[in-house]
Amino acid sequence: MIEAVIDKCPHIETERLVLRKWEERDLDGLVEMNADPLVMEFFPSVMSRQDSERMFERLMFKQEKYGFGTPVVEERATGRFLGLCGLGIPSYPEPLPFDPCVEIGWRLIPDAWGRGIAQEASRIWLGFGFEILLLDEIVSFTAATNWRSEKVMQRLGMVRHASEDFNHPLIEEGHPLKRHVLYRLSKEQFLRQSHG
Ligand SMILES: CC(C)(COP(=O)(O)OP(=O)(O)OC[C@H]1O[C@@H](n2cnc3c(N)ncnc32)[C@H](O)[C@@H]1OP(=O)(O)O)[C@@H](O)C(=O)NCCC(=O)NCCS
Repeated sequence: MIEAVIDKCPHIETERLVLRKWEERDLDGLVEMNADPLVMEFFPSVMSRQDSERMFERLMFKQEKYGFGTPVVEERATGRFLGLCGLGIPSYPEPLPFDPCVEIGWRLIPDAWGRGIAQEASRIWLGFGFEILLLDEIVSFTAATNWRSEKVMQRLGMVRHASEDFNHPLIEEGHPLKRHVLYRLSKEQFLRQSHG
């Protein structure tokens, strides 16, 4: 059984980053990032310490259950927590219109923006998802107004079908963040882009 021997979230190091599983020591970094209004501009609100503790528990649970849970990005030279980026499986109380899916997502501290870090980490996890985990498709979604996040999707060669825009089930009716865009990337599209 090949499934049993694949580490679905290996420890990966690049010249400037460490991409790895969540550990207990990451909680404080997550709390600080989620309390920053700039980071949370396109979420309904900043998160309290208690909200982040719950999110941390969910990430750890998914990591245990699926082998990955939108893993950590760390600065290699300093060990600083930069945020999260990678593959995850959404688990909302209500289904998404495109479930079941594997998504790629990102949330970084502002010091890490504008340096291509989300792209670098995402390309590695997309390659891992398609070439090692043999996924057929990876999706990404964000509030329709979150242009920074949408730009990452576009830079990664992901494709939006406007007819698949959707209302996020967890955001209340009438809220300006309710409308979301969906981007998809198939294995064929990824391999064509990466290998020419
Ligand atoms: C969304 C988010 C991850 C995007 O971060 P980002 O740094 O803009 O994304 P990228 O990794 O694609 O970096 C691109 C930027 O780095 C610059 N850059 C610098 N060096 C680079 C390099 N070596 N390679 C690529 N880009 C580089 C690019 O020019 C670009 O800058 P620009 O946007 O001013 O044109 C970040 O804004 C964030 O965490 N936001 C808050 C959380 C959030 O909204 N998450 C998404 C929820 S769905």
